[in-house]
Amino acid sequence: MSYQLAGRTLHGAGLAPMAGLTDLAMRRIADSHGAAFTVSEMVSAKALVMGDEKSRTLCTHTAGSGLYGIQLFGSEPDVMAEAAALVAEAFHPDFLDLNLGCPAPKIAGNGAGSALMRTPDLCGRLVESIVKAGLPVTVKMRTGYDTGHLNAPEVAQACVQAGAQLVAVHGRSRDQQYTPPIYPEQIARVVQAVNVPVLGNGDIHTAQDALALMHATGCAGVLVGRGAMGNPWLFAEIDAAVRGLPLPPAPSLEQRMALLCAQAKAMCEEKGEVNAMRQMRGQAAFYMKGLRGAAKLRGLSTGLTVYEDAEKLAALVLALNSGEADEE
Ligand SMILES: Cc1cc2nc3c(=O)[nH]c(=O)nc-3n(C[C@H](O)[C@H](O)[C@H](O)COP(=O)(O)O)c2cc1C
Repeated sequence: MSYQLAGRTLHGAGLAPMAGLTDLAMRRIADSHGAAFTVSEMVSAKALVMGDEKSRTLCTHTAGSGLYGIQLFGSEPDVMAEAAALVAEAFHPDFLDLNLGCPAPKIAGNGAGSALMRTPDLCGRLVESIVKAGLPVTVKMRTGYDTGHLNAPEVAQACVQAGAQLVAVHGRSRDQQYTPPIYPEQIARVVQAVNVPVLGNGDIHTAQDALALMHATGCAGVLVGRGAMGNPWLFAEIDAAVRGLPLPPAPSLEQRMALLCAQAKAMCEEKGEVNAMRQMRGQAAFYMKGLRGAAKLRGLSTGLTVYEDAEKLAALVLALNSGEADEE
């Protein structure tokens, strides 16, 4: 099971774009743990065109061994064309991705993200605008705007006709947000509707989850978001499972805590300690999943303020989980 993107043959899982989570540090971690590709956090086409420096910072190339894409959001074809040309020239990504899935009111309320699924024709025109930048174009969508309008196959066809080379589908509609179980049959409808690779997405936490989704839908690969946070080893596990190879050994707790500290350090270098540690609170909570004292540890994660707090948290995790410290 493989698929083509930007002239490469890929297997298994890419890192799903996640605003506030898949920053440069996380993308580099995913890349070095075997992600087939990484994608930037969503970036506003309008803000880029207006010269917003923070938006440009979001675009920094992962510069790893896997492919790198920049995801744009917006609803105006002219602005989209200008933003696509700008990032292609400035950052040299391997591909550009169009966000057709964001449910957040400040995005969808302005006609972008998942709101675009109500107008497949406009989705197509936006893809056409991005294609002009001369890079492969991918789209990431939901199953529909709401559960009464599950039109992902129609939107996918409009995008492919306009030049999209790959379609990723998060198996929920906008109104379902992030929690109810995904609907593999809706991803399968998209697989049937287009002749480009389709990637399935949603709730993949193990290599078995990835294989099950691929078998249930016929999708060519998967995108992993939350499941890879604090557990980037999942990429190598999925890669092995897809190739029919034995899974690599699970990481030790020491390895996981060393990665937590390395991630915090890389984030501090990238965006300064204050911003980095604020964002690290969310990242650290993922590392605490399934540990002894997880509730207390997640509580401590919310208090991370300086880099040394990450080291202290890691040391406490190791102590609690080797029985050297009292859980209370
Ligand atoms: C905090 C957060 C931020 C997200 N930001 C984006 C984004 O910028 N662009 C996008 O296409 N999807 C975004 N998503 C959706 C994810 O890419 C993915 O489709 C969704 O989380 C389901 O996959 P998962 O269960 O593997 O996390 C975001 C999800 C979360 C939880």
